[in-house]
Amino acid sequence: MKIAILGFGTVGKGVYEIVKKANMQTQNLSVSHILIRKNKIRTMPEMTDDMSEILTDKDVDVVVEVMGGIEPAHEYILAALNHGKNVITANKAVVAIYLKEFTEAAERNHVKFYFEASVGGGIPWIQGLEKALRIDNVNSISGIFNGTSNFILDQMSKKGQPFVEVLKEAQKLGYAEADPSADIDGYDIANKLCISADIAYDIDIKNHQKLPIFGIRNITCEDVKYFQKRGLAVKLIGRSHQKDNKFDYVVEPALFLDQTLEANTPDNYNLISLNGETIGKLDFFGQGAGMLPTANAIVQDILDVKERKSHLKRDFDKRMEYCPDLTKGDYL
Ligand code: NDP
Ligand code: HSE
Repeated sequence: MKIAILGFGTVGKGVYEIVKKANMQTQNLSVSHILIRKNKIRTMPEMTDDMSEILTDKDVDVVVEVMGGIEPAHEYILAALNHGKNVITANKAVVAIYLKEFTEAAERNHVKFYFEASVGGGIPWIQGLEKALRIDNVNSISGIFNGTSNFILDQMSKKGQPFVEVLKEAQKLGYAEADPSADIDGYDIANKLCISADIAYDIDIKNHQKLPIFGIRNITCEDVKYFQKRGLAVKLIGRSHQKDNKFDYVVEPALFLDQTLEANTPDNYNLISLNGETIGKLDFFGQGAGMLPTANAIVQDILDVKERKSHLKRDFDKRMEYCPDLTKGDYL
């Protein structure tokens, strides 16, 4: 199976690294293209600055978009789907706006659009949410959806390091967005909450700009210490409830008692929860940011594409027995 990676930064390099791992060799995956910017020097044979080369290569089965931002990510994802490629992205900013357009384009072209890594990094949250919905109405979603802000608040409380210093460390570790204001001002969580609410409540929020979003920019080490002395931890969270097709939604810093799961969510970890009628509260915990956890979620999606392809092939071979006129082009 041939994979094209759009964008070779933290996550793109992680995907490349995992696909090359010795234990992945049996999976027959290979990265055939890596899209880089026009002004960049090609340092690997897979690198190209020409998107049309990827689109017109019939052997490319999967396009992994990890460039970030809205355009040209939106344009390239749509083009790839319309050229019959399966698409996988970690880009929540573009999914929060265009999820519906992407899933419709994928359906029209008989391919799949995957975005597991766009919420919760390495945590299989989208899958979990979709599974919960097979049985339950999900009436609330909440939690710590951002690794960078959690890392900052955690380091401030454990080491007393100032905000700006810890933010720099989060950037070095590859947790933060290219523009880290999305992480610290709450917009990254807003995007993730939009995507989750779209799926959970079957709505299309699209534009969350008018919803209440507060960040952690003004929280100081003194504030964190003050809370700590009182047995409290401050966390940046997103919350949303649904009732009778109406929903509320907020991104804000909140205080949690010392013993709670939220207060004990460390480093770059996320703790995301849903509430369903029969399942009750279900918590998902794991690394919500970082190169390898995020790349892991993407490679899991790649393996799903591979599995789907071999199912289709088996199905096609069986049908051929009964209908020899069928051609692969009609079916695969
Ligand atoms: P990086 O900034 O590290 O990497 C993005 C890469 O894409 C850079 O190399 C950038 O090049 C390149 N790029 C941007 N635009 C183009 C373009 N038009 N053509 C070719 N290359 C381009 O970001 P990350 O890898 O951290 O994140 C990628 C995506 O994954 C984002 O959407 C992010 O939100 C998401 N994500 C990130 C996680 C993380 O932990 N880092 C976790 C979950 C999701 P240049 O350097 O020249 O700008
Ligand atoms: N910048 C994001 C975070 C990456 O820190 O959570 C994962 O989506």
